[in-house]
Amino acid sequence: MRILFLNGPNLNLLGQREPEVYGRTTLAEIEAKVKERAKQLKADIDFRQSNLEGELVAWIQQAKGKFDVIVLNAAAYTHTSIALRDAIAAVGVPTIEIHLSNVHAREEFRHKSIIAPVCCGQIIGFGLNSYVLAVEAAINVNVV
Ligand code: DQA
Repeated sequence: MRILFLNGPNLNLLGQREPEVYGRTTLAEIEAKVKERAKQLKADIDFRQSNLEGELVAWIQQAKGKFDVIVLNAAAYTHTSIALRDAIAAVGVPTIEIHLSNVHAREEFRHKSIIAPVCCGQIIGFGLNSYVLAVEAAINVNVV
């Protein structure tokens, strides 16, 4: 099982960015936790971050045939990006949407996810654990 974790804009600043919302864990620490859980479950992880919408689109396109599942924290692009949604739909690699914070308990503009209809599910609001839970969800993605 090969899982591609993609992180969108400003997630490189985790640890210092709005810690009251996102906690004090850095993205590198999250990556380490994801890899630790993946090792236990015998999954391979590729973990990336970009502030650029086009780069995220390119990575989604390139995932076909290389990864079994994409786990995507699209950050602010969740609420704006038709390009990411179209890439997910075009490529057909099962994609799980995740967020650290509970977007539904925050500003109204975060309540709408443009990518949700083309994702197989969402994991939202568990902080660092959203990522760890996503490894488990990815492994069981074909179990209905
Ligand atoms: C986020 C939620 C988004 O609304 C926000 O733009 C982010 C982070 C989260 O993980 O909680 O950058 O995706």
